[in-house]
Amino acid sequence: MSRFIIQGGHELSGRVSVSGSKNAALAVLSATILASEPCEIENVPDILDVRVFLMILEHLGARIEFANHKAIVDPRNISSKSVPAKLMSKLRGSILLAGPLLARFGHVSLVKPGGDAIGSRPIDVHLTGFAKLGAVVSENDIIEISGKLKGAKIVLSVTSVTGTENLIMAASLAQGDTEIRMAATEPHVQNLCNFLNAMGAKIEGVGTPTLRVTGQNRLSGAKFRIGSDEIEAITFCAAAAATKSEIEITGVDLDHLDAPLATLERMNVRFTIEPGKLRILKPDKDLSGTKITTGVYPQLLTDEQPLLGVLATQAHGETTIHDWIYEGRQGYLVALQQMGATVILEDKNHAKITGPTPLHGAEIKTPDLRAGASILIAALVARGESVIYNAEIIDRGYERLDERLRDLGADIKRVE
Ligand code: EPU
Repeated sequence: MSRFIIQGGHELSGRVSVSGSKNAALAVLSATILASEPCEIENVPDILDVRVFLMILEHLGARIEFANHKAIVDPRNISSKSVPAKLMSKLRGSILLAGPLLARFGHVSLVKPGGDAIGSRPIDVHLTGFAKLGAVVSENDIIEISGKLKGAKIVLSVTSVTGTENLIMAASLAQGDTEIRMAATEPHVQNLCNFLNAMGAKIEGVGTPTLRVTGQNRLSGAKFRIGSDEIEAITFCAAAAATKSEIEITGVDLDHLDAPLATLERMNVRFTIEPGKLRILKPDKDLSGTKITTGVYPQLLTDEQPLLGVLATQAHGETTIHDWIYEGRQGYLVALQQMGATVILEDKNHAKITGPTPLHGAEIKTPDLRAGASILIAALVARGESVIYNAEIIDRGYERLDERLRDLGADIKRVE
């Protein structure tokens, strides 16, 4: 088990570049299963979740080369054997194997995926959608899904990100046309659609809640570049704003940051934008509390909430937090309380933070990925030493976050 040891109170400065998106990479790597030729994916973040995902693809028979953020996946020898429960349970993204394996082989069997402990995380939207496409689903300890897929109209009961992605992948090799309504529109879903279209799929309505997929008999290999990670961009924005620092963040996709940047603006965070670049400036007035409400993209993402929540501890007045997406997202707020923040947990989805409060170092075991990043930002602000245990949870979604923050001037070391 690794831990981060942080001495707080250092200003950050310099430049940092944003990695490729974790959630886009997982979806695009899954879609390579549908190809009948090798695929070349660039800007793949070198993070733990990607490494585990590549191991799963290798276990299924794919040939993988991964170096310098480029993954070459040759899926031709993949077979739909069951994925070991131990690997499946390591990450939520493993559910993304279901759609492409089902579409390619007419059968898939898997255990329920693991991932962050942020809520109950059901998969009924995925399974109901597969059934609409004509599959037979039997759900016991092992989920078995089989059948030849036929296009259908699917109205999602909940706008699920991986649910939408699984059904797009399944529909791309189904016979006939599929319409998916109430579809998720997140940048990672758009990345997936653009990659599939590059493989010869026909998906219309990309980036809207109504997707029309014309099923194909075969999809070719393709080259694709993963888009920049919007959640990582906001992580660096929050780290700079909370420590009252000036930094430049490059490799940013500004098209996908409307809601979090509007929240930063309301909180009086000063920043300038240029194509592909964001510069967080030192404050010229106090940070201000605000209302943080998560939603479905293009609204504020649930993954961005803990990063803005930690900033609220340094803002004047009250910040209200309403995150209805997961009922287990408040682990970071409990940690912030331990570090001196004034937080009222009203119920599982609502909280109030009153600031500004000086934070002090503490020893914390991070409960989930975004909580880990949020607690790390609190430790950069805090007086004294903090220790964050379970640093691997942060490594799941951030590439060398400790090193990159150190390059910006943070005092942080990793102990294995
Ligand atoms: N939901 C259902 N039924 C389903 C699926 C989801 O009721 O079958 C509900 C969930 O309980 C939740 C909401 O729908 O309330 C949204 O869940 P969603 O299915 O969209 O989440 P996900 O696809 O499992 C992805 C990201 C998460 C991110 C969420 C929400 C990946 C691999 N994961 O998860 O990312 O929090 O969308 O935006 O894309 C992270 O990056 O740290 C992370 C957890």
